[in-house]
Amino acid sequence: MQTAQISPELADAADVLSDQLRVHLQKLSRLLDPHADRIERQFVNRLRTMGFEPKQRAALTSITTGAAARVLARNKAPLKFIEQVEYSGRRLAKLNLPPSAILEALQEYDRLLAPMLEELIPDEHANFQWVRDQLHFCVILTLNNAYYQVRETEAEAFVQEILRDRLRVEFLCLGFDFRFGKGRRGTPELLAEMGIARGFEVEVVPPVVVDGTVVKSALIRDLLHEGKVGEAARYLTRAYAILGEIVPGAGRGRGLGFATANVIPPGGFLIPDGVYAGRAYVGEAGYDAAINVGVAPTFGRGDRRVEVHLLEVREDRAPGYGQTILVTFWEWIREEVRFTSPGELTAQVARDVERAREILRQPPGGRGEDWALLGTGSCASIRAD
Ligand SMILES: Cc1cc2nc3c(=O)[nH]c(=O)nc-3n(C[C@H](O)[C@H](O)[C@H](O)COP(=O)(O)O)c2cc1C
Repeated sequence: MQTAQISPELADAADVLSDQLRVHLQKLSRLLDPHADRIERQFVNRLRTMGFEPKQRAALTSITTGAAARVLARNKAPLKFIEQVEYSGRRLAKLNLPPSAILEALQEYDRLLAPMLEELIPDEHANFQWVRDQLHFCVILTLNNAYYQVRETEAEAFVQEILRDRLRVEFLCLGFDFRFGKGRRGTPELLAEMGIARGFEVEVVPPVVVDGTVVKSALIRDLLHEGKVGEAARYLTRAYAILGEIVPGAGRGRGLGFATANVIPPGGFLIPDGVYAGRAYVGEAGYDAAINVGVAPTFGRGDRRVEVHLLEVREDRAPGYGQTILVTFWEWIREEVRFTSPGELTAQVARDVERAREILRQPPGGRGEDWALLGTGSCASIRAD
Protein backbone atom coordinates (compact mmCIF):
# COMPACT_ATOMS: atom_id res chain seq x y z
CA MET A 1 0.00 0.00 0.00
CA GLN A 2 1.23 3.50 -0.89
CA THR A 3 1.39 5.51 2.34
CA ALA A 4 4.40 7.79 1.85
CA GLN A 5 2.47 11.03 1.22
CA ILE A 6 -0.09 10.83 3.97
CA SER A 7 -0.24 11.63 7.65
CA PRO A 8 0.29 8.88 10.24
CA GLU A 9 -3.35 9.14 11.38
CA LEU A 10 -4.55 8.52 7.86
CA ALA A 11 -2.15 5.68 7.36
CA ASP A 12 -3.40 4.13 10.59
CA ALA A 13 -6.99 4.49 9.49
CA ALA A 14 -6.18 2.89 6.14
CA ASP A 15 -4.31 0.06 7.87
CA VAL A 16 -7.24 -0.68 10.13
CA LEU A 17 -9.35 -0.79 7.03
CA SER A 18 -7.06 -2.99 5.02
CA ASP A 19 -6.14 -5.44 7.76
CA GLN A 20 -9.47 -6.10 9.37
CA LEU A 21 -12.07 -5.21 6.87
CA ARG A 22 -10.84 -5.61 3.39
CA VAL A 23 -12.36 -9.04 2.83
CA HIS A 24 -15.71 -8.15 4.38
CA LEU A 25 -15.87 -4.81 2.69
CA GLN A 26 -15.08 -6.15 -0.72
CA LYS A 27 -17.78 -8.74 -0.44
CA LEU A 28 -20.17 -6.10 0.74
CA SER A 29 -19.17 -3.69 -1.97
CA ARG A 30 -20.03 -6.20 -4.70
CA LEU A 31 -23.40 -6.62 -3.06
CA LEU A 32 -24.04 -2.92 -2.65
CA ASP A 33 -22.58 -1.55 -5.84
CA PRO A 34 -25.59 -2.26 -8.09
CA HIS A 35 -27.85 -0.40 -5.64
CA ALA A 36 -25.49 2.41 -4.68
CA ASP A 37 -26.82 4.87 -7.31
CA ARG A 38 -30.43 4.48 -6.24
CA ILE A 39 -29.62 4.80 -2.54
CA GLU A 40 -27.48 7.82 -3.30
CA ARG A 41 -30.36 9.56 -5.07
CA GLN A 42 -32.60 8.92 -2.06
CA PHE A 43 -29.85 10.15 0.22
CA VAL A 44 -29.39 13.41 -1.74
CA ASN A 45 -33.13 14.02 -1.55
CA ARG A 46 -33.10 13.46 2.19
CA LEU A 47 -30.15 15.83 2.58
CA ARG A 48 -32.02 18.47 0.60
CA THR A 49 -35.04 18.24 2.87
CA MET A 50 -32.72 18.32 5.89
CA GLY A 51 -31.46 21.70 4.63
CA PHE A 52 -27.96 20.81 3.37
CA GLU A 53 -26.54 23.02 0.58
CA PRO A 54 -25.55 21.50 -2.81
CA LYS A 55 -21.80 21.63 -2.04
CA GLN A 56 -22.35 20.05 1.34
CA ARG A 57 -24.52 17.35 -0.25
CA ALA A 58 -21.80 16.54 -2.78
CA ALA A 59 -19.16 16.21 -0.07
CA LEU A 60 -21.43 14.12 2.15
CA THR A 61 -22.29 11.61 -0.57
CA SER A 62 -18.59 10.88 -1.06
CA ILE A 63 -18.05 9.65 2.53
CA THR A 64 -20.90 7.16 2.92
CA THR A 65 -20.74 3.39 3.15
CA GLY A 66 -22.08 3.30 -0.42
CA ALA A 67 -19.23 5.53 -1.60
CA ALA A 68 -16.76 3.14 0.04
CA ALA A 69 -18.49 0.22 -1.68
CA ARG A 70 -18.17 1.94 -5.04
CA VAL A 71 -14.46 2.57 -4.66
CA LEU A 72 -13.76 -0.97 -3.50
CA ALA A 73 -15.96 -2.61 -6.13
CA ARG A 74 -13.66 -1.07 -8.75
CA ASN A 75 -10.78 -2.94 -7.13
CA LYS A 76 -9.14 0.19 -5.82
CA ALA A 77 -7.18 0.12 -2.54
CA PRO A 78 -9.12 1.12 0.63
CA LEU A 79 -6.71 4.02 0.92
CA LYS A 80 -8.40 5.62 -2.10
CA PHE A 81 -11.61 5.84 -0.14
CA ILE A 82 -9.83 7.24 2.90
CA GLU A 83 -8.19 9.90 0.70
CA GLN A 84 -11.61 10.75 -0.64
CA VAL A 85 -12.92 11.11 2.92
CA GLU A 86 -10.00 13.32 3.86
CA TYR A 87 -10.57 15.60 0.88
CA SER A 88 -14.29 15.83 1.65
CA GLY A 89 -13.54 16.43 5.32
CA ARG A 90 -11.51 19.52 4.43
CA ARG A 91 -14.27 20.76 2.16
CA LEU A 92 -16.89 20.21 4.85
CA ALA A 93 -14.76 22.08 7.40
CA LYS A 94 -14.37 24.99 4.97
CA LEU A 95 -18.11 24.93 4.33
CA ASN A 96 -18.47 25.35 8.10
CA LEU A 97 -20.48 22.19 8.57
CA PRO A 98 -20.20 21.08 12.21
CA PRO A 99 -19.10 17.46 12.84
CA SER A 100 -22.44 16.73 14.51
CA ALA A 101 -24.26 17.54 11.24
CA ILE A 102 -21.94 15.20 9.33
CA LEU A 103 -22.64 12.36 11.74
CA GLU A 104 -26.34 13.00 11.45
CA ALA A 105 -26.08 12.75 7.65
CA LEU A 106 -24.12 9.49 7.88
CA GLN A 107 -26.74 8.01 10.17
CA GLU A 108 -29.43 9.06 7.75
CA TYR A 109 -27.62 7.19 4.97
CA ASP A 110 -27.53 4.04 7.08
CA ARG A 111 -31.21 4.33 7.83
CA LEU A 112 -31.87 4.29 4.08
CA LEU A 113 -29.53 1.35 3.58
CA ALA A 114 -30.78 -0.87 6.40
CA PRO A 115 -34.05 -2.22 4.89
CA MET A 116 -32.32 -3.09 1.62
CA LEU A 117 -29.55 -5.00 3.37
CA GLU A 118 -31.97 -6.86 5.55
CA GLU A 119 -33.62 -8.07 2.39
CA LEU A 120 -30.40 -8.84 0.49
CA ILE A 121 -28.46 -10.50 3.27
CA PRO A 122 -30.82 -11.50 6.08
CA ASP A 123 -28.26 -13.90 7.58
CA GLU A 124 -25.27 -11.61 7.45
CA HIS A 125 -27.03 -8.49 8.53
CA ALA A 126 -25.46 -8.37 12.00
CA ASN A 127 -22.06 -8.94 10.50
CA PHE A 128 -22.62 -6.06 8.14
CA GLN A 129 -23.36 -3.74 11.03
CA TRP A 130 -20.00 -4.58 12.52
CA VAL A 131 -18.29 -3.86 9.18
CA ARG A 132 -20.16 -0.60 8.83
CA ASP A 133 -19.26 0.50 12.37
CA GLN A 134 -15.59 -0.18 11.67
CA LEU A 135 -15.83 1.81 8.48
CA HIS A 136 -17.47 4.68 10.31
CA PHE A 137 -14.70 4.60 12.85
CA CYS A 138 -12.13 5.12 10.07
CA VAL A 139 -14.28 7.79 8.44
CA ILE A 140 -14.66 9.74 11.66
CA LEU A 141 -10.96 9.47 12.46
CA THR A 142 -10.13 10.78 9.01
CA LEU A 143 -12.72 13.57 9.14
CA ASN A 144 -11.34 14.66 12.49
CA ASN A 145 -7.88 14.80 11.07
CA ALA A 146 -9.03 16.86 8.08
CA TYR A 147 -10.91 19.26 10.32
CA TYR A 148 -7.88 19.76 12.49
CA GLN A 149 -5.68 20.54 9.50
CA VAL A 150 -8.12 23.14 8.19
CA ARG A 151 -8.43 24.72 11.60
CA GLU A 152 -4.66 24.93 11.96
CA THR A 153 -4.26 26.54 8.55
CA GLU A 154 -6.90 29.16 9.23
CA ALA A 155 -5.56 29.98 12.66
CA GLU A 156 -2.02 30.18 11.28
CA ALA A 157 -3.09 32.51 8.51
CA PHE A 158 -4.77 34.74 11.07
CA VAL A 159 -1.72 34.81 13.32
CA GLN A 160 0.72 35.37 10.48
CA GLU A 161 -1.18 37.82 8.29
CA ILE A 162 -3.09 39.84 10.86
CA LEU A 163 -1.16 39.62 14.12
CA ARG A 164 2.40 39.43 12.82
CA ASP A 165 2.50 41.12 9.41
CA ARG A 166 -0.14 43.78 9.80
CA LEU A 167 -0.19 44.59 13.54
CA ARG A 168 3.41 43.55 14.36
CA VAL A 169 2.26 42.18 17.70
CA GLU A 170 4.95 41.58 20.31
CA PHE A 171 2.82 40.95 23.38
CA LEU A 172 -0.76 39.78 23.52
CA CYS A 173 -2.94 39.69 26.62
CA LEU A 174 -6.28 37.96 26.24
CA GLY A 175 -9.09 36.38 28.20
CA PHE A 176 -9.34 32.64 28.79
CA ASP A 177 -12.44 32.36 26.58
CA PHE A 178 -11.06 34.35 23.64
CA ARG A 179 -11.61 32.60 20.28
CA PHE A 180 -10.24 33.61 16.92
CA GLY A 181 -10.07 32.66 13.25
CA LYS A 182 -12.77 31.28 11.03
CA GLY A 183 -15.55 29.58 12.97
CA ARG A 184 -13.88 30.86 16.20
CA ARG A 185 -11.84 27.67 16.39
CA GLY A 186 -8.57 29.26 17.57
CA THR A 187 -7.97 29.16 21.36
CA PRO A 188 -5.55 31.07 23.63
CA GLU A 189 -3.52 27.85 24.04
CA LEU A 190 -3.10 27.56 20.28
CA LEU A 191 -2.13 31.21 20.10
CA ALA A 192 0.44 30.81 22.87
CA GLU A 193 1.95 27.85 21.03
CA MET A 194 2.12 29.82 17.79
CA GLY A 195 3.51 32.88 19.56
CA ILE A 196 6.54 30.93 20.73
CA ALA A 197 7.45 30.11 17.13
CA ARG A 198 6.82 33.63 15.89
CA GLY A 199 8.46 35.59 18.63
CA PHE A 200 5.55 37.13 20.49
CA GLU A 201 4.42 36.55 24.02
CA VAL A 202 0.90 35.56 25.06
CA GLU A 203 -0.59 36.08 28.49
CA VAL A 204 -3.93 34.43 29.23
CA VAL A 205 -6.08 36.07 31.90
CA PRO A 206 -7.93 33.41 33.89
CA PRO A 207 -11.65 33.74 34.68
CA VAL A 208 -12.72 35.83 37.68
CA VAL A 209 -15.20 33.82 39.71
CA VAL A 210 -17.52 35.41 42.29
CA ASP A 211 -19.76 33.09 44.31
CA GLY A 212 -19.32 30.37 41.70
CA THR A 213 -20.24 32.65 38.76
CA VAL A 214 -17.73 33.50 36.03
CA VAL A 215 -17.76 37.30 35.74
CA LYS A 216 -18.14 38.49 32.16
CA SER A 217 -18.95 41.90 30.71
CA ALA A 218 -22.06 40.41 29.03
CA LEU A 219 -23.36 39.26 32.42
CA ILE A 220 -22.84 42.72 33.93
CA ARG A 221 -24.38 44.45 30.92
CA ASP A 222 -27.44 42.18 31.14
CA LEU A 223 -27.87 42.84 34.85
CA LEU A 224 -27.58 46.59 34.30
CA HIS A 225 -30.09 46.45 31.44
CA GLU A 226 -32.52 44.86 33.88
CA GLY A 227 -31.86 47.51 36.53
CA LYS A 228 -30.18 44.98 38.85
CA VAL A 229 -27.51 47.45 39.89
CA GLY A 230 -26.93 45.81 43.28
CA GLU A 231 -26.14 42.44 41.75
CA ALA A 232 -23.99 44.04 39.03
CA ALA A 233 -22.02 45.83 41.76
CA ARG A 234 -21.16 42.48 43.36
CA TYR A 235 -19.46 41.38 40.16
CA LEU A 236 -17.98 44.79 39.34
CA THR A 237 -16.77 45.23 42.94
CA ARG A 238 -18.05 48.80 42.76
CA ALA A 239 -21.32 50.51 42.01
CA TYR A 240 -22.33 51.40 38.44
CA ALA A 241 -21.78 55.16 38.09
CA ILE A 242 -22.12 58.07 35.71
CA LEU A 243 -20.38 61.40 35.57
CA GLY A 244 -22.22 64.49 34.36
CA GLU A 245 -22.84 68.17 34.67
CA ILE A 246 -25.75 69.53 36.69
CA VAL A 247 -28.19 71.17 34.28
CA PRO A 248 -31.34 73.23 34.97
CA GLY A 249 -34.65 71.34 35.32
CA ALA A 250 -38.19 72.72 35.27
CA GLY A 251 -37.69 74.08 38.80
CA ARG A 252 -40.66 72.11 40.11
CA GLY A 253 -38.79 69.90 42.58
CA ARG A 254 -38.25 72.43 45.34
CA GLY A 255 -41.97 73.31 45.34
CA LEU A 256 -42.85 69.63 45.62
CA GLY A 257 -40.58 69.27 48.64
CA PHE A 258 -37.65 67.47 47.08
CA ALA A 259 -35.03 69.48 45.20
CA THR A 260 -33.14 67.54 42.53
CA ALA A 261 -29.87 67.91 40.65
CA ASN A 262 -30.58 67.05 37.01
CA VAL A 263 -28.10 65.31 34.74
CA ILE A 264 -28.48 64.40 31.07
CA PRO A 265 -27.73 60.64 30.78
CA PRO A 266 -24.41 60.12 29.01
CA GLY A 267 -24.13 58.12 25.78
CA GLY A 268 -24.09 54.39 26.49
CA PHE A 269 -26.11 54.81 29.68
CA LEU A 270 -27.11 51.25 30.54
CA ILE A 271 -29.77 51.16 33.22
CA PRO A 272 -33.55 51.36 32.72
CA ASP A 273 -35.91 54.06 33.94
CA GLY A 274 -36.84 53.74 37.59
CA VAL A 275 -36.06 54.90 41.09
CA TYR A 276 -32.73 53.91 42.70
CA ALA A 277 -30.84 54.35 45.95
CA GLY A 278 -27.27 55.57 45.54
CA ARG A 279 -24.54 57.98 46.48
CA ALA A 280 -23.56 61.19 44.73
CA TYR A 281 -20.28 63.09 44.89
CA VAL A 282 -19.73 66.77 44.14
CA GLY A 283 -16.26 68.17 44.69
CA GLU A 284 -14.97 66.57 47.89
CA ALA A 285 -18.44 65.97 49.37
CA GLY A 286 -20.42 62.74 49.24
CA TYR A 287 -24.20 62.44 49.73
CA ASP A 288 -26.78 59.70 50.13
CA ALA A 289 -29.34 60.03 47.35
CA ALA A 290 -32.71 58.91 46.00
CA ILE A 291 -32.41 58.97 42.23
CA ASN A 292 -35.03 58.95 39.51
CA VAL A 293 -34.13 57.92 35.98
CA GLY A 294 -36.85 58.73 33.49
CA VAL A 295 -39.17 61.18 31.83
CA ALA A 296 -41.35 62.31 34.78
CA PRO A 297 -44.59 61.08 33.16
CA THR A 298 -46.67 62.76 35.86
CA PHE A 299 -45.74 66.07 34.25
CA GLY A 300 -45.34 64.79 30.67
CA ARG A 301 -41.77 66.07 30.48
CA GLY A 302 -40.60 63.68 27.75
CA ASP A 303 -36.83 64.25 28.09
CA ARG A 304 -34.94 61.45 29.78
CA ARG A 305 -33.06 62.70 32.82
CA VAL A 306 -31.18 61.40 35.84
CA GLU A 307 -32.59 63.36 38.78
CA VAL A 308 -30.66 63.16 42.01
CA HIS A 309 -32.35 64.11 45.25
CA LEU A 310 -29.57 64.57 47.79
CA LEU A 311 -30.59 63.53 51.30
CA GLU A 312 -29.54 65.84 54.10
CA VAL A 313 -27.92 68.60 52.15
CA ARG A 314 -28.16 72.14 53.49
CA GLU A 315 -29.95 74.35 50.99
CA ASP A 316 -27.16 76.94 50.98
CA ARG A 317 -24.63 74.16 50.31
CA ALA A 318 -26.59 72.51 47.49
CA PRO A 319 -24.47 72.03 44.38
CA GLY A 320 -25.31 74.39 41.52
CA TYR A 321 -25.65 74.26 37.76
CA GLY A 322 -22.49 73.56 35.83
CA GLN A 323 -20.87 71.56 38.64
CA THR A 324 -19.65 68.06 37.94
CA ILE A 325 -21.53 65.32 39.75
CA LEU A 326 -20.73 61.65 40.05
CA VAL A 327 -23.82 59.48 40.60
CA THR A 328 -23.45 55.89 41.81
CA PHE A 329 -26.38 53.47 41.70
CA TRP A 330 -26.58 51.02 44.61
CA GLU A 331 -29.96 49.38 44.45
CA TRP A 332 -33.19 49.40 42.43
CA ILE A 333 -36.24 50.67 44.37
CA ARG A 334 -39.19 50.76 41.94
CA GLU A 335 -40.42 51.64 38.46
CA GLU A 336 -41.15 55.21 37.47
CA VAL A 337 -44.95 55.68 37.35
CA ARG A 338 -47.46 58.30 36.28
CA PHE A 339 -49.25 59.73 39.31
CA THR A 340 -52.66 61.35 39.11
CA SER A 341 -51.59 64.27 41.30
CA PRO A 342 -48.35 65.96 42.43
CA GLY A 343 -49.35 65.18 46.05
CA GLU A 344 -49.29 61.46 45.38
CA LEU A 345 -45.86 61.78 43.83
CA THR A 346 -44.54 63.70 46.85
CA ALA A 347 -45.89 61.06 49.24
CA GLN A 348 -44.27 58.31 47.20
CA VAL A 349 -40.94 60.16 47.04
CA ALA A 350 -41.01 60.40 50.86
CA ARG A 351 -41.34 56.60 50.98
CA ASP A 352 -38.55 56.26 48.39
CA VAL A 353 -36.29 58.38 50.59
CA GLU A 354 -37.01 56.10 53.57
CA ARG A 355 -36.25 53.03 51.47
CA ALA A 356 -33.06 54.62 50.15
CA ARG A 357 -31.89 55.39 53.72
CA GLU A 358 -32.54 51.79 54.71
CA ILE A 359 -30.53 50.50 51.75
CA LEU A 360 -27.68 52.92 52.33
CA ARG A 361 -27.44 51.96 55.99
CA GLN A 362 -26.29 48.50 54.88
CA PRO A 363 -22.54 47.98 54.59
CA PRO A 364 -21.49 49.27 51.17
CA GLY A 365 -19.66 46.02 50.33
CA GLY A 366 -17.13 47.97 48.30
CA ARG A 367 -19.75 49.91 46.37
CA GLY A 368 -18.93 53.33 47.72
CA GLU A 369 -15.30 53.14 48.70
CA ASP A 370 -13.59 53.62 45.33
CA TRP A 371 -15.75 56.53 44.38
CA ALA A 372 -15.49 58.29 47.72
CA LEU A 373 -11.72 58.14 47.44
CA LEU A 374 -11.78 59.45 43.92
CA GLY A 375 -13.90 62.56 44.53
CA THR A 376 -15.17 64.50 41.53
CA GLY A 377 -12.04 66.61 41.20
CA SER A 378 -10.26 63.57 39.79
CA CYS A 379 -13.40 62.46 37.96
CA ALA A 380 -13.55 65.75 36.11
CA SER A 381 -10.06 65.19 34.90
CA ILE A 382 -10.92 61.64 33.87
CA ARG A 383 -13.66 63.10 31.73
CA ALA A 384 -11.44 65.83 30.30
CA ASP A 385 -9.00 63.17 29.16
C1 LIG B 1 -36.86 59.81 44.19
C2 LIG B 1 -37.64 60.33 43.02
C3 LIG B 1 -38.66 59.57 42.49
C4 LIG B 1 -39.42 60.03 41.41
N1 LIG B 1 -40.42 59.26 40.90
C5 LIG B 1 -41.19 59.75 39.90
C6 LIG B 1 -42.28 58.99 39.37
O1 LIG B 1 -42.53 57.84 39.75
N2 LIG B 1 -43.05 59.54 38.41
C7 LIG B 1 -42.80 60.79 37.92
O2 LIG B 1 -43.55 61.25 37.07
N3 LIG B 1 -41.77 61.51 38.37
C8 LIG B 1 -40.95 61.04 39.33
N4 LIG B 1 -39.90 61.76 39.79
C9 LIG B 1 -39.49 62.97 39.06
C10 LIG B 1 -40.21 64.18 39.51
O3 LIG B 1 -41.42 64.30 38.80
C11 LIG B 1 -39.31 65.38 39.21
O4 LIG B 1 -38.12 65.27 39.95
C12 LIG B 1 -40.00 66.67 39.56
O5 LIG B 1 -41.03 66.87 38.66
C13 LIG B 1 -39.01 67.83 39.50
O6 LIG B 1 -38.56 68.02 38.19
P1 LIG B 1 -37.56 69.23 37.86
O7 LIG B 1 -36.26 68.93 38.51
O8 LIG B 1 -37.45 69.17 36.34
O9 LIG B 1 -38.19 70.46 38.35
C14 LIG B 1 -39.12 61.32 40.85
C15 LIG B 1 -38.07 62.06 41.41
C16 LIG B 1 -37.34 61.58 42.47
C17 LIG B 1 -36.19 62.41 43.03
